[in-house]
Amino acid sequence: MVGLPARGKTYISKKLCRYLNWIGISTKVFNLGEYRRHATTAYQCHEFFRPDNIKAMAIRTQCAMDALNDVCQWLESGDGEVAVFDATNSTVERRQLIRDIVIGKMGFKLFFVESVCNDPEIVEQNIMEVKVSSPDYANMNKEEVLADFMLRIEHYQEKYQALDENQESDLSFMKIYNTGEKVLVHKHEGHIQSRIVYYLMNIHIVPRTIYLTRHGESLMNLQGRIGGDSDLSERGREYARALSNYITAQDIQGLRVWTSWLKRTIQTAADVKAPQERWKALNEIDAGICEEMTYEEIANKYPADFAARDQNKFSYRYPRGESYEDLVARLEPVIMELERQGNVLVVSHQAVLRCLLAYFLDKNADELPYLKVPLHTVIKLTPVAYGCKVEHIRLPIDAVDTHRPKPKKYKSIDSHKASVGVTFINCHIKFRILIWFVQITTIYDTLVKR
Ligand code: SIN
Repeated sequence: MVGLPARGKTYISKKLCRYLNWIGISTKVFNLGEYRRHATTAYQCHEFFRPDNIKAMAIRTQCAMDALNDVCQWLESGDGEVAVFDATNSTVERRQLIRDIVIGKMGFKLFFVESVCNDPEIVEQNIMEVKVSSPDYANMNKEEVLADFMLRIEHYQEKYQALDENQESDLSFMKIYNTGEKVLVHKHEGHIQSRIVYYLMNIHIVPRTIYLTRHGESLMNLQGRIGGDSDLSERGREYARALSNYITAQDIQGLRVWTSWLKRTIQTAADVKAPQERWKALNEIDAGICEEMTYEEIANKYPADFAARDQNKFSYRYPRGESYEDLVARLEPVIMELERQGNVLVVSHQAVLRCLLAYFLDKNADELPYLKVPLHTVIKLTPVAYGCKVEHIRLPIDAVDTHRPKPKKYKSIDSHKASVGVTFINCHIKFRILIWFVQITTIYDTLVKR
């Protein structure tokens, strides 16, 4: 990242990290402020950031080197694919240093993202929303924080050099002006950088709310069957009416309603008074040969598949159907369009909403297929600071429970690791006994021969 303080760098870093992880690219943010807080005692005031504060500058440079070192180690270890270095990196000298290490020494790709913002209102809003709750300002009131942070920005401004395509013509970068009013892309290279550019071009910070709900209870839900394209049950139709009343009562400006192509979502949204769009991408996970079967029938007819799905539900693909992993890929255009929109009500299905929720709530591939998305419940998502506030509004109409929790034997990866550990210890003991046996036999042999 590049940019003066309070330009939304941390917001962009965290959001980008969440998106890349969601699409399966292992990503981690390295925030320089955190390194600095670890390396120093409690933050005193803006003086720390004066460019002529030699002692502080030495600490800051050391922190940057430590963070870069961790970035390189993490990428080299093979655990990570993208590291986001969330820092101001606001001078040509610092960016050259990063280039020398990241490209010159390590041979990685490097892409700078600069957030330029010259709208004082946006800067002040950023300070009031996120900086007041920063650990730097634990003991200050809002006015003191604003005053100190403005002085901190001034210190950076003295030395700030924005990315420049003439002066730094060899670098790959993008510049985002005033939270997306204008975007400039320079020499981007490769697939991941293109996806980063496309994603960051689509996000915005205008306040809005996203409402997610499953269709009302369907006739197949009543029979415990998965998939299909059945109508709503009587209680499902009641939910459709209750949903319409709930949405009307909320009086949501510019609301748009998205449903899947399946009857049960279209019937659920039918009475909601707002423009509607149908998305095939919002259709329920395709259960292939298991469509319209109960879990019991699947377990009896395809026991191997049933067990395989429990073992790795995210990657398991129904024969001639889809996996959750496939679903995430199918839903990427939906997420991109959701990012561009204002208030939206999405009426969809259990597996689809799990994928969308995992994106907004930053849940990993192990948690995603087990997220709870009950029937007859509206999930309200409101963006706050660096994340999302989530509320579950259960409308008072009974419905069957379709949630199937993770079977106990597959519950925790740690317990798996522990059992691997025990097995290893068992093998180790058996191996020692074998060695002793061989040693004793050899000694006995030698003695007998003598
Ligand atoms: C900080 O210390 O809070 C940020 C340091 C930087 O990125 O310049």
